[in-house]
Amino acid sequence: MSVDVLLGLQWGDEGKGKIVDFLASHYDFIARYQGGPNAGHTIYLKGEKFVLHTIPSGIFHHEIGNIIGNGVVINPITLLSEIRNLEAAGINVKSKLYIAKKASLILPTHIELDKASEQKRGDAKIGSTLRGISPAYMDRTGRNALKIGEIFSSNFIEKYNSLRDKHLEMISSMGYTADLSSEKAWIESLELLKNYSFIDCEQYVNQQLQQGKKILAEGAQGAMLDIDYGTYPFVTSSNTITGGVCAGLGVAPQKIKDVYGITKAYCTRVGSGPFPTELHDEIGEKLRKEGGEFGATTGRPRRCGWIDFVALRYACMLNGVTKLCITKIDVLNNFEEIGYCNKYKIGSEISHNMPSYLTDDISTPIQFAKGWNTDITVGSGYDHLNENVKNYVQLIEEKLGVKANLVSVGPGRDELFEIN
Ligand code: GDP
Ligand code: IMO
Ligand code: MG
Repeated sequence: MSVDVLLGLQWGDEGKGKIVDFLASHYDFIARYQGGPNAGHTIYLKGEKFVLHTIPSGIFHHEIGNIIGNGVVINPITLLSEIRNLEAAGINVKSKLYIAKKASLILPTHIELDKASEQKRGDAKIGSTLRGISPAYMDRTGRNALKIGEIFSSNFIEKYNSLRDKHLEMISSMGYTADLSSEKAWIESLELLKNYSFIDCEQYVNQQLQQGKKILAEGAQGAMLDIDYGTYPFVTSSNTITGGVCAGLGVAPQKIKDVYGITKAYCTRVGSGPFPTELHDEIGEKLRKEGGEFGATTGRPRRCGWIDFVALRYACMLNGVTKLCITKIDVLNNFEEIGYCNKYKIGSEISHNMPSYLTDDISTPIQFAKGWNTDITVGSGYDHLNENVKNYVQLIEEKLGVKANLVSVGPGRDELFEIN
């Protein structure tokens, strides 16, 4: 069968976890293809909150396999602690988690390198999650990475020591002192992870497809954080877009069918870097408050602004979005009017397309749609919703040229409308 993809169209935190959890029952497997514990995917089940960092968001369903793919970077401490939290909540992780042997490891010294590098950048820091993501991907590209499948080989510790020592030299040359206090827990966690299922991801995934199984590839971060197409250098270190799925799972492009693109009804960003529609005023503050916009991984306040159709059109183009999901529309319940940006003003020029670089001379003329000033409840059905809500959804569809498939109005699994 085929692979569908679900990914973020903005700067992350679009509500991917919630939507994957909702769609999961239509699939046999959910597979993460990139990123690592920089991700924080929130799922509410019967009022209980779970935040997943490495484990795919299909884990709450019976009978669905959850694959951590080749393209993911794994910190064994974080992964084991996630597994334990889920097991404590009564979820049988062992029977449905599959870890790609070729996934790369995040070492304790990768985290220290991340910290040292951010410290060295000073005011120009990326605002990384300090989870060691960039140094781990650098080692992968530099052909130095330790793969998680290597934990079964007899010289693993030797290889680990050699890479750690190399990192320590780098860290010390940066004038930073490394904290290695997590090393013992890191090695112990890997030992315990040996009890879980390891797979040759590319072989396994293709065998499952041949047997008629359906896979949903779950993205982390968002299109505007993509290493090649995002707001470089203020990006993450992997290909977050649909193109990343083929490399991250080992599937051919012809196997990919639908692409679910997730956008908030407004926009947020956490960390440094350009954000054309950011609001520095009380409206931005109100969005943060009503939307509970604080990072799921780091707890940092998220920067907030109006929806940006220029950036979203670019993200739809890059990803080949066939199904649009709009989340957090309920956060706009108490706004008289809702701003949107459909074009950038770059110097004296107007552009409807994303420029190569987001420079400081870009301004964003904001237009306004009517608010609805009322609560949205799922009970009444989409057709009975306030006209202004439906008009706003239609505006988004028109500006992006993609039909909305799901409109989410709350954090719970069933707080959403399936339309069309
Ligand atoms: P992800 O990284 O894309 O999975 O998103 P996060 O979990 O980091 O952030 C999304 C936040 O919004 C989480 O706290 C979700 O519980 C919450 N959320 C998701 N969808 C909705 C929605 O439609 N309405 C509201 N109010 N909250 C939502
Ligand atoms: P999910 O999957 C939002 C941001 C960081 C920083 C930049 C680089 O939950 O949507 P990194 O640690 O990757 O080197 O940080 O990317 N970032 C995210 N922002 N959601 C995420 O994941 C993010 N993962 C990384 O804040 O600006
Ligand atoms: Mg998140």
